[in-house]
Amino acid sequence: MIEGHVARRVIGSAANRRASRSWWDADADAYQAEHGQFLGEVDFRWCPEGLREAEEGLLGPVRGRRVLEVGCGAAAAARWLASQGAEVVALDLSAGMLRHAQTANSQTVPVPLVQADAMALPFPDGSFDIACTAFGAVPFVDDSARVMREVFRVLRPGGRWAFAVTHPMRWIFRDDPGRDGLIAEYPYFDRRPYVEFDAAGRATYVEHHRTVGDRIRELISAGFALRDLVEPEWPESHEEVWGQWSPLRGRIFPGTAIFVADKPTTNQPTTNQPAGYPT
Ligand SMILES: C[S@@+](CC[C@H](N)C(=O)[O-])C[C@H]1O[C@@H](n2cnc3c(N)ncnc32)[C@H](O)[C@@H]1O
Repeated sequence: MIEGHVARRVIGSAANRRASRSWWDADADAYQAEHGQFLGEVDFRWCPEGLREAEEGLLGPVRGRRVLEVGCGAAAAARWLASQGAEVVALDLSAGMLRHAQTANSQTVPVPLVQADAMALPFPDGSFDIACTAFGAVPFVDDSARVMREVFRVLRPGGRWAFAVTHPMRWIFRDDPGRDGLIAEYPYFDRRPYVEFDAAGRATYVEHHRTVGDRIRELISAGFALRDLVEPEWPESHEEVWGQWSPLRGRIFPGTAIFVADKPTTNQPTTNQPAGYPT
């Protein structure tokens, strides 16, 4: 196997977790150096299109609410939520990413940090009013349906869950911010993850694709009611490139999908089973 080998291949859960943790540990400094200024220290940006929670209010009122940020990275979003009066916990798998959060904690608004896997949240049932993530955890786990179930469990009835991921339709295109990124090449229905391997054949980076329908089905199967699917448009004046996100592509097709879902209150009937599921 040659160094830098890339494939669409199913790998085991343990190898996936190992790759994610070591990738984000090793990449933490570079990620912050490249994106830290855009993300800010006390700011909640949902995506490379720049959408801000301060303007969109996808989470609803946050003052006095208990909020969990999943896959927080340097936790700028959690700090913004705390600055708005929320009681926040910021969670991430990677010690490297959390080190940046720790540094920012000592310089700005401090938030409690927890190192854990989003597939096994270390909180009792009903601990939070709101959970959210901007590109954290969900695309990097082999079983995102389990993340949906875990978030559902730790939310109180009536709680809100919003998560941003790469828009599923982006997966059919080459991963390029330029004109090559306008060429549709990969099957939308291929759910095998994108995996990078080292020279020894170990997975070093894993990212998963789900279709729009898959994401909705995972939410509904966990018990959520889908409230909105936000596809941010590329702002006219925005020229910043972030990986494969660029003004060129962003003006033609969406780069981000933000799913907003609610955990029904106990007295609400949960009749929102997806078609084909036993009721
Ligand atoms: C693209 S970064 C996003 C970070 C941050 N939300 C932001 O907007 O910059 C993905 C984050 O997800 C975290 N992550 C990956 N897999 C995870 C898992 N299984 N559980 C919790 N966090 C995870 C990574 O460590 C990393 O900090």
